[in-house]
Amino acid sequence: MSGIEQTRKAAEGLAHSAGFGNEHSSEAVPGALPHGRNSPQRAPLGLYAEQLSGSAFTEPRARNRRSWLYRIRPSAAHPAFTRTDNGTLRTAPFTETVTDPNRLRWDPLPDPAPGTDFLAGLWTLGGNGDAAQRAGMAIHLYSADTSMTDRVFSDSDGELLIVPERGGLLLRTELGLLRAEPGHVALIPRGVRFRVELLDATARGYVCENYGQPFVLPDLGPIGANGLANARDFLAPVAAYEDREGPVEVVNKFCGNLWSATYDHSPLDVVAWHGNHTPYVYDLRRFNVIGSISYDHPDPSIFTVLTSPSDTPGLAGVDFVVFAPRWLVGEDTFRPPYFHRNVMSEYMGLIEGAYDAKATGFVPGGGSLHNMMSAHGPDRETFERAGAAELKPQKIDDGLAFMFETRWPVTATAQAAGADHLQRGYDAVWQGLSRDFRP
Ligand code: FE2
Repeated sequence: MSGIEQTRKAAEGLAHSAGFGNEHSSEAVPGALPHGRNSPQRAPLGLYAEQLSGSAFTEPRARNRRSWLYRIRPSAAHPAFTRTDNGTLRTAPFTETVTDPNRLRWDPLPDPAPGTDFLAGLWTLGGNGDAAQRAGMAIHLYSADTSMTDRVFSDSDGELLIVPERGGLLLRTELGLLRAEPGHVALIPRGVRFRVELLDATARGYVCENYGQPFVLPDLGPIGANGLANARDFLAPVAAYEDREGPVEVVNKFCGNLWSATYDHSPLDVVAWHGNHTPYVYDLRRFNVIGSISYDHPDPSIFTVLTSPSDTPGLAGVDFVVFAPRWLVGEDTFRPPYFHRNVMSEYMGLIEGAYDAKATGFVPGGGSLHNMMSAHGPDRETFERAGAAELKPQKIDDGLAFMFETRWPVTATAQAAGADHLQRGYDAVWQGLSRDFRP
């Protein structure tokens, strides 16, 4: 069997544990999970007990995150890490370029050099905040044609929200296996080790690295107890372990740099675990889209899947927002997203199809950045079409777009600001809007 066939076989029929932020538990071998205590004098089956904390010990119960892992060797059994090349990965604070007030748009990343895996294929577009202060976020893209083999990655700087756009991924994490196809998102919590294997010949997509508070589901307010992303549709893995001796490179992203150590065993050796600091996948097509059934277009916050809160109520470090298939029925309403200027900064990407505010130029794998207070909205063609459209009920079903919306302006990396695939002349999409004022 080829590598891809083996990976596809491993990804078939995976079991999951459903729910968001709840206490999961799983054991790959019966009896591996201790009962009644987390750290017995001797853990079952000769395993080592280890706590992985995703929040301070003392954070309020609703925000407290930790998982207990029962593993073949403790994580502490490793040699020293040494610096390794950061490749095209960059980290906040972003100081390579002057923060640009202009509207920017990129075509998809060029194809990777043959032999590029997910980690080597990470390419940072920009971001904000300061990873060491655990505040802000980074926007990465990835493009890969090779599975990670004999190496494992973990990110001490933040959690990783992976948004595949082309090609499926099998994520082998410490807590078990997850499959993420285009249209799904996968989250790897801070510090959790994982390996990415490809389910197709190539893989491409987006990653939000969130240095701040972990993503949670937004409050629903008057919407009520259900709606938007429902907690039961988030799927954590079940325990699955590698009992593998031999050299494995472990790469740790720490305060912006990559550090590498060669272990004499696989660190994906967790036989049982319980807790709420877990990876998960979510199918964006499960999103319960809520919108107007009378007039006007609600603010796009109505499409929030996940939010990373800040210390200011309602002000997110970063929101993850999806523009999923939906009906538009507003009467006497300009139905595409309206013109606006926003104190928040918006990076948009496209997973498939088209986006209803942009007729051309915004393509799957590409992205746009509308920084704080930059004026944007429908392009001229979309504006003219929507202003003349007959307002019968209309299904938007040919696209899946998303937004990383963040509290601080995004500074581009030098490689993004100077990229060949940066579109020159993006401003032109708003030129030629006619002057129709008739006092
Ligand atoms: Fe916007």
